[in-house]
Amino acid sequence: MDLKERIETLLAQIDELKASCASEVEEIRIRFLGKKGSITQLFEEFKTVLPEQKREFGQVLNQLKNRATEKINALKEEAGEEQQKTVVEDHTLPGDFFPIGSRHPISLTRAEILQIFSRLGYSVLEGPEIEDDWHVFGALNFPPEHPARDMQDTFFVSSGENRVLLRTHTSSVQVRAMESMKPPIRIVCPGRVFRNEAISARAHCIFHQVEGLYIDKGVSFADLKQSILFFAREMFGEDAKIRLRPSFFPFTEPSAEVDVSCNICKGKGCNVCKGTGWLEIMGAGMVDPNVLEACGIDNTTYSGFAFGMGIERIAMLKWQIKDLRLYFENDIRFLKQFETA
Ligand code: PHE
Repeated sequence: MDLKERIETLLAQIDELKASCASEVEEIRIRFLGKKGSITQLFEEFKTVLPEQKREFGQVLNQLKNRATEKINALKEEAGEEQQKTVVEDHTLPGDFFPIGSRHPISLTRAEILQIFSRLGYSVLEGPEIEDDWHVFGALNFPPEHPARDMQDTFFVSSGENRVLLRTHTSSVQVRAMESMKPPIRIVCPGRVFRNEAISARAHCIFHQVEGLYIDKGVSFADLKQSILFFAREMFGEDAKIRLRPSFFPFTEPSAEVDVSCNICKGKGCNVCKGTGWLEIMGAGMVDPNVLEACGIDNTTYSGFAFGMGIERIAMLKWQIKDLRLYFENDIRFLKQFETA
């Protein structure tokens, strides 16, 4: 075959070329234009062409090379597009991962507490964070000179007889419930509360509570104890124990501080429970008859119990969180740890 014929054969071959992916295009490029490629070889042979034929062959050869380069570029582009198309259309590929947030430990704990009490027939009731003196203190049997009514402990919004303030506990929601509902009343009141305290690892001026109230005929202290024991076992594990220590609140009589057996050392004594084997989890007591009366409930027919706990504290005990401030800093490294909780 003379040079001319070979060029024509190659031209025909180039027109027919097809490739389905980028690596096939690369193979083609090597076959024609690589160091030992058929077109490259023709250029080698061109050196031996007679001088008078050089012009004519030179032109044809250059055309051949250009055609091959153009064709290869076109194939490359096609293969690229084809590949992109398959990416878009391949429904078997795993989905794009985009991170979603996790629920805050306070929300998780709040939900768990409410869930436990809902199993005992309690319903959830919420109320205003900005309250008046009556609902936070007056109706709850706080004497006028009680220190909680002092600027040192409470954030006041306005002064005067029934001054406006930020609630210091969600007992105010219970007052609203007693004023508007008829017994039996069985409610849990979650919410944000505010106290004028310096911020430290153990105290914050904003925190969260769940308080509970049960009013009916013949409600006794034994009912209170049993309900709290149920809660402690659900929250901290089946072998959790509770103990009640005598305490005082203006709105309950008798009153108690409730401890749960330390879930870290199982009551043996460790640095979390400071060697005592017990951790304080809430305040509780029988609703003072004065409170029932102030809220319009007949205290000769009805009795009830109330309890209140800090959500931050329960979460601290559950996950051994050492510093209250972590709840409010929104540090992703802290929050991420609750992704699977
Ligand atoms: N209201 C109390 C507090 O904020 C908690 C409590 C509620 C105590 C009900 C006894 C009974 O600390």
